[in-house]
Amino acid sequence: MPGMARLLTLLGIETSCDETAAAVIRLSPDGDVQILSEKVHTQLEEHAPYLGVVPEIAARAHAELADQTVAAAMADSGLAYSDLDAVAATSGPGLIGGVLVGMMTGKAIAQAAGKPFLAVNHLEGHALSPRLTHDCPFPYLLLLVSGGHCQFLEVRGLGDYRRLGSTIDDAAGEAFDKTAKLLGLGFPGGPAVERIGAAGDPKAIHFPRPLLNRPGLDMSFAGLKTAVARAAEAEDLTETRMADICASFQAAIMDVLSEKAHRALENFNPGDGAGKRFVVAGGVASNEAIRSGLEKVAENSGAVLIAPPMRHCTDNAAMIALAGAERLAGGLENEAGDLGAGARPRWPLDEAAAKSDPAYSTGRRGAKA
Ligand code: KG4
Ligand code: ZN
Repeated sequence: MPGMARLLTLLGIETSCDETAAAVIRLSPDGDVQILSEKVHTQLEEHAPYLGVVPEIAARAHAELADQTVAAAMADSGLAYSDLDAVAATSGPGLIGGVLVGMMTGKAIAQAAGKPFLAVNHLEGHALSPRLTHDCPFPYLLLLVSGGHCQFLEVRGLGDYRRLGSTIDDAAGEAFDKTAKLLGLGFPGGPAVERIGAAGDPKAIHFPRPLLNRPGLDMSFAGLKTAVARAAEAEDLTETRMADICASFQAAIMDVLSEKAHRALENFNPGDGAGKRFVVAGGVASNEAIRSGLEKVAENSGAVLIAPPMRHCTDNAAMIALAGAERLAGGLENEAGDLGAGARPRWPLDEAAAKSDPAYSTGRRGAKA
């Protein structure tokens, strides 16, 4: 029944990358969200030796951790499975092995408890994540910058997303990780590059800013890796040189994100005289320089920057539970649920845009974006 005004309690499960997460949330008819519990087990240690996320290792770790993570979230919430209204799990896009584990776990629990199972798009979870903690009515502009995604989205309403632009190759976080790998700084690369770059000169090396001067909001970060490799080979990799490379690399990313964000905000018209809200989510948003750069951009465009707490910027299950709950509340979801749904390695939020511009959906590694 669409628009049913009742309290909804959901268990959410997230396993699409290298975080095994479960959360129980409660959505009230007026949009208030109560997070009853949230558990995240990050697999950083498992993947660190390989300097990146290894899909097979991730799938096995999810399989080992999913049950206990869900059990811990349920225990923390103080609720029984029978108290839930539905179970939601990420069903894509993501690494297929992990997605399958989360979905099977969610379906099994839903079936055993006699509750509907909801197949949630991971990107919709990110898109709605600010609503977990902030009063963030539609519409708003969202910049999602993580290791797997880098895109601007206009979040117009529930289930109504317009992709305004995205990376055509690597995500910004991926570029940080590759730079760190080249410089021998370990994984994940972002925090290390930021730390070491703090002592460097951001103007020391001029790295390319791909697509910066092209119209539109698309981005490209794959070429930076080559430029960083050249800079690393050109001179002795002294401490100073290393710091300069990191600072200059970060400045290049920041310039691109800031310029594109500025453009996106200038063109964003929330209508009805409503204020402009600009939400930044994803692991890269924890970068101080990038965050404060985006804050300035928002200020200059008369927008308010909303940055969800870090635990909701990165992959988490509360956002998956919320997406499921909002869909149920909004009547977008069949109360009978999606038991028959399959895992989708690619699942763009804005299907129309993905189809009309296949650069995003059939790229080398598909629509991470
Ligand atoms: O959102 P997230 O935890 O996971 C997904 O990719 O879904 O983002 C992780 C990414 C990694 O690529 C990591 O290097 C990057 O975010 N990251 C950072 C920083 N902290 C994490 N990038 C730049 N500066 C940081 N301080
Ligand atoms: Zn994510």
